[in-house]
Amino acid sequence: MKATEKEKAKRNAGRRAAEFVRDGMVLGLGTGSTTYHFMVRLAERIGSEGLSVAGVPTSIQTAIRARELFIPLATLDDHPRLDLAVDGADQADRDFHLIKGRGAALTREKVVAAAAARLVIVADLEKCVERLSGTVPLEVIPFAAAPAMIAVRELGGEPAVREGRAKDGPVITDNGNYIVDCTFSAIPDPAGLEEELTLIPGVLECGLFCRYVQKTTLVAGSAEGTRVIEKR
Ligand code: 5RP
Repeated sequence: MKATEKEKAKRNAGRRAAEFVRDGMVLGLGTGSTTYHFMVRLAERIGSEGLSVAGVPTSIQTAIRARELFIPLATLDDHPRLDLAVDGADQADRDFHLIKGRGAALTREKVVAAAAARLVIVADLEKCVERLSGTVPLEVIPFAAAPAMIAVRELGGEPAVREGRAKDGPVITDNGNYIVDCTFSAIPDPAGLEEELTLIPGVLECGLFCRYVQKTTLVAGSAEGTRVIEKR
């Protein structure tokens, strides 16, 4: 997919997801460029239809964008249960197992996904794959990074602390931790790997999302339109 087509695909997916929002809902607001298109369309609907909604942001970036768009913000303290969360993904397989965390927001994204009655994942079609593969991000407390990386190697992964692009040294998450990107040659059992990675001491969360498949709807975008895929 060319860059312009990819951008159109993200826009189509994000805007389509805004049609799932109903008046009065409390929403989870995911992180990333596809979710941003959702928020832009949501803001339009708030303006034109007078929708009364509030959103729990999954990152500092999303909170800033929501404020710019005049989307009312909420917290999990006030709303521990959410009606709907809309978020992006880096990969989604046929069973709706996901890899997330390119934007380093995976822990808050997982908390929000767990709190939501329904999870709508927005992604361009290229991210929809037969089987997950490649890099799984972990959020790790800095104190535990070295032993956690040994444990990842024992599970067959190749770990690397994520480095900043416009900052020297490691990426520090919104929660004050490191991201360890773990590359696996294959991921035959995503749910099993999620469990094993999450059990490593000092790992706060894992970018594999396998526990929410039953409540997930996938909105897959292409340059021409969208496909809404429900669990079979
Ligand atoms: C951030 C994420 C994002 O949702 C995921 O990386 C998709 O981002 P984009 O829509 O920009 O491709 O998991 O932690």
